[in-house]
Amino acid sequence: MDEHKKKGSSPGDSQCLVYKPTASVIEGATLKEYEVLYQRSISDRLGFWAEEAQKLEWFKGWDRVLDDSNKPFFKWFVGGKTNIVLNAIDRHVLTWRRNKLALIWEAETGESRTYSYHALNREVCKFANILKSMGVKKGEVVTLYLPQIPELTIAMLACAKIGAVHSVVFGGFSVEALATRIRDASSRVVVTADGGFRRGKTFELKSIVNEALKDSPTVEVCITVKRTGQPVSMEADRDFWLHELMALPIASMKCETEVMDAEDPLFILYTSGTTGKPKGLLHTHGGYSVYTATTLKYVFDLKEEDRYWCTADPGWITGHSYLVYGPLINGATQVMYEGAPNHPYPNRWWQIIEKYGVTILYTSPTAIRGLMRFGEQWPKRHDLSSLRLLGSVGEPINPEAWRWYHRVIGGERCPIMDTWWQTETGGFVITPLPISPLKPGSATRPFFGHEVAVVDDQGAQVPVGSEGNLVLKAPWPGMARTIWGDPERYKETYWKTYEKQGWYKAGDSARMDEDGYFWIIGRTDDVIKVSGHRLGTAEIESALVSHADVAEAAVIGVPHELKGHAIHCFVLLKHGRTGGKELEEQLKEHVSHQMGSLARPEKIEFMSVLPKTRSGKIMRRVLRARALGQDVGDTSTLEE
Ligand code: PRX
Repeated sequence: MDEHKKKGSSPGDSQCLVYKPTASVIEGATLKEYEVLYQRSISDRLGFWAEEAQKLEWFKGWDRVLDDSNKPFFKWFVGGKTNIVLNAIDRHVLTWRRNKLALIWEAETGESRTYSYHALNREVCKFANILKSMGVKKGEVVTLYLPQIPELTIAMLACAKIGAVHSVVFGGFSVEALATRIRDASSRVVVTADGGFRRGKTFELKSIVNEALKDSPTVEVCITVKRTGQPVSMEADRDFWLHELMALPIASMKCETEVMDAEDPLFILYTSGTTGKPKGLLHTHGGYSVYTATTLKYVFDLKEEDRYWCTADPGWITGHSYLVYGPLINGATQVMYEGAPNHPYPNRWWQIIEKYGVTILYTSPTAIRGLMRFGEQWPKRHDLSSLRLLGSVGEPINPEAWRWYHRVIGGERCPIMDTWWQTETGGFVITPLPISPLKPGSATRPFFGHEVAVVDDQGAQVPVGSEGNLVLKAPWPGMARTIWGDPERYKETYWKTYEKQGWYKAGDSARMDEDGYFWIIGRTDDVIKVSGHRLGTAEIESALVSHADVAEAAVIGVPHELKGHAIHCFVLLKHGRTGGKELEEQLKEHVSHQMGSLARPEKIEFMSVLPKTRSGKIMRRVLRARALGQDVGDTSTLEE
């Protein structure tokens, strides 16, 4: 890639360099004419999506591409019959791809397994038959709480195959977070493992499930994968070992793929919002298949011979869309790794790239910053020349990390796809293509079919370079259809602000520069991105308040060099209790236990009063300004 061809523009960085693609990238890319196809995708949006959808298999074609008669509850490919597994597995095993590697899995321990499409199909069928034997029905929600092992991918596909809806809870979450999600989904069946491995140690999962199940009356069956062999407590008639079930005749290798309506639910995935309990965002079989397949194919220019590696955990949307479904629908060979990037040494990832000849690496800014800290000598020990494309997701990437990633990992030849999207969008929305000129720190321009704008609270476009709310102006096939059990909240959260215009409010603030490039600034609500993980202040606050000494709590995110943001808590103790180092540690431990270590607070401050409005709402803005040493701004609504 030729650097500094031109001085670009970025708000606040007028010296920003534009990185243009090299001739070989342009030559190899599936798509060379962005402008032409983009204009077509806007002027004939439905035609564009119909054409992409036709590249997939359907049991029966659709009658209408889009039904927008009940906005904002859009329906895509109405009347179409499909199942995501039809495209992710079934169609491949009918071709030579049955013997192609679908999955290369490696663990931190060095253990590895591979699955061809044929083998993956066999395991999915067996698992699906086990679920059926447990009485799992079409439309029922099965909760999956597993480490990053192939069984998680297999369990997701098995649910989809029989028409059950999966709800994956990230294995890093703990008791309360898990119980809340199981209860909200009213799951009858939970799939877990005894534990997992990370940084040379084992961590517990089954014991957390056991604790969560005390508070989850709907659960009747728990299937456990034996992963670590650590002792766990199993309850008769409720708990089953997966390997024992897999050895029974019920686990047959034949299983029909359920015929689903395009709009039938595929999964729910809980994510944090402004207030209250997490939202279960619902995605469907038809539109989500088309969207993940199309976005991945164009943005990563996925080719038959690629070895694609997305480092995300399937417990987050990135794992769902670009580790499980997108790559499999495209018939790709992918790598999955369980473990920390720097254990036992900071070369672990670079070793994997060299060992498997990875061609595309998709990861997060936090991981890049973390690995950058150890210096260039670690990647330099390995041959990374197989790489041809890089990706970044989850939070804004700072230009310094971008340049390091580009120079040291990508050898200055691999373009970086900085993809902006959300659990709600199902797939990439603002993203470069391999042929795009790149500006470090900008996710560049909208993907096909999207019109994106930065507007003020009334919906007027803000001037170029000014900050405003990011909105998406038209529906797309991968959009979440609703919030599980709470359609009103879906309407209220995403569509209320710009109801008149019919726009989707992303909840991010952003700027657009004069080249039409978007620069994401961050969330405008009470969501904190900690190491790229999306956490809600409300959930952390309620974990704090569940401690016997805490009367009230307020949580904010403050910028952190490595994690992007870190969690700061302000705590008001109950009458007669006093704060101190010991209690601070205790509270941090308490939040970790309830929520998971990813939500462990960085800092806890004991307060004698919390800033509130006269109506009793905590003013986090004031706390944030105070923590950052900034002017607290207008405090006229503050209570005395
Ligand atoms: O603030 C944006 C940030 O992550 C949020 C969505 O989080 P989640 O639903 O967990 O999905 C993360 C993976 C897609 C967004 O509202 N975000 C995501 N990607 C980027 C980003 N911020 C800046 N640049 C990105 N590339």
